[in-house]
Amino acid sequence: MTDSSPAPWWSRAIFYQVYPRSFADSDGDGIGDLDGIVAHLDYVDALGVDAIWLNPVTVSPMVDHGYDVADPRDVDPLFGGLDALDRLIAAAHRRGIKVTMDLVPNHTSSQHAWFKAALAAGPGTAQRARYIFRDGTRPRGTRPPNNWVSVFGGPAWTRVTEPDGTPGQWYLHLFDAEQPDLNWDNPEVFEDFEKTLRFWLDRGVDGFRLDVAHGMAKPPGLPDMKNPDIEMLKLDDDDPRFNHDNVHDIHRAIRSVLDDYPHAVAIGEVWVFNNEQFAKYLRADELHLGFNFRLLRAEFDAAEIRHAINNSLAAAAIEGATPTWTLSNHDVGREVTRYGGGSVGLARARAMALVMLALPGAVFIYNGEELGLANVALPDEVLQDPVWERSGHTERGRDGCRVPMPWRGDAPPFGFSANPRTWLPIPPGWASLTVERQLADPVSTLAFYRRALRLRGGPRFAGSSIAWLPGPVGALAFRVVDGGLVCALNAGSKPTPLPEGQLLLSSGPVRGGVLPPDTAAWLV
Ligand code: NOJ
Repeated sequence: MTDSSPAPWWSRAIFYQVYPRSFADSDGDGIGDLDGIVAHLDYVDALGVDAIWLNPVTVSPMVDHGYDVADPRDVDPLFGGLDALDRLIAAAHRRGIKVTMDLVPNHTSSQHAWFKAALAAGPGTAQRARYIFRDGTRPRGTRPPNNWVSVFGGPAWTRVTEPDGTPGQWYLHLFDAEQPDLNWDNPEVFEDFEKTLRFWLDRGVDGFRLDVAHGMAKPPGLPDMKNPDIEMLKLDDDDPRFNHDNVHDIHRAIRSVLDDYPHAVAIGEVWVFNNEQFAKYLRADELHLGFNFRLLRAEFDAAEIRHAINNSLAAAAIEGATPTWTLSNHDVGREVTRYGGGSVGLARARAMALVMLALPGAVFIYNGEELGLANVALPDEVLQDPVWERSGHTERGRDGCRVPMPWRGDAPPFGFSANPRTWLPIPPGWASLTVERQLADPVSTLAFYRRALRLRGGPRFAGSSIAWLPGPVGALAFRVVDGGLVCALNAGSKPTPLPEGQLLLSSGPVRGGVLPPDTAAWLV
């Protein structure tokens, strides 16, 4: 970017992640939908966010709640169909809120017309060449082609029955067996993805979050994993399933389409922790933004947090890219729980919100984070995440962070739905956490978030770098270079002195120039 070009809208944007199943239900089926979001846009607007990131709403059998896409160019009737998305885009744009959609380039649903055709056509056909089919090993192909495991547990290969009824080839699925991986070496796959990109951009969406953006290119020969015992749902470096260098050609091709729509943003889900490797995705002709999970993986510990911040800034700086920050999403435990749960977990989550919102770059907030929601311990019989089944009931999966939003009233479903049977049960204890209650309470987590988000737009936060200030062990403090805001966090067990300056906002009570444990403050 030259000095004369204005900064793009996303470079300091606050993205609000809406998990459509769990935000608001307009038609009483117990599952959230797009008109439910439209009905609550004033709430989103009042938060002061710039954009919505919508988890997948395209046509899907919902085995992985939309990340198994059967038709990438239509909206699932469960969410209200295409017209409902048009209504959401129009209503959001009227309020100046951008809408970004989730797209899933790495795989489709097993119910996608392509996959059904691949099964019917048999080995060696053009239909099979859109996916990653291989013969098995051992005589008669009874063993999978390699030792890869699915991120959701179990083998990453499933054997099919051929049209003549004989046991046949195997297909690759890095996630559930109902999510076959596409073969991005086949030009047809990009041609179709380009159609999808243009379809939504022409309809007015402002960009995309690209699912598993480091996963589409597979290494030639599909070499074995060195560590097939890797923890489920854990994505790391040095894993042949992900981050093959050829993926960058795919990102360049995607970017060349997005460049026809200069306002649009491409944000990649990139679970890569080596800074140089991560930065490659952010080269000028690849993604605009890369999800950065360093802060999310840090424990509530000053040294770890500082390290995560330094690493994140260093990674983005390699390519002069915009840093991004996120504390939670629909795949990880909510931060209140991660930081210890209860009042301590909540205090720490609020403190970390101030740290995150003081940092330069783009920020992602997951719906419910602003209410201080914790993970919910759900009973076995309601669990829906495919991880639960695929792990043989050893991993509970991600449902606990996807429980519907509590809006109002004293009992479940708290205005989320007219239907008392919501797709996941809402705990009665959330009565004190509803939007209605928190709006009436000036010291609620919601009130705190709204204040913090509004302040973040001000000149004190301007700048693209931070300077660390000396701080006692267990604490950290930095100044936003240019704007001048100071952010201090006490992650230790003893009170620490507050840095100089006038207190602008704190995450908990602060008195007498002292910052209590589990508290952060902004000073000017
Ligand atoms: C990452 C998404 O965030 C997650 O929810 C999904 O299960 C996998 N990708 C597979 O699409």
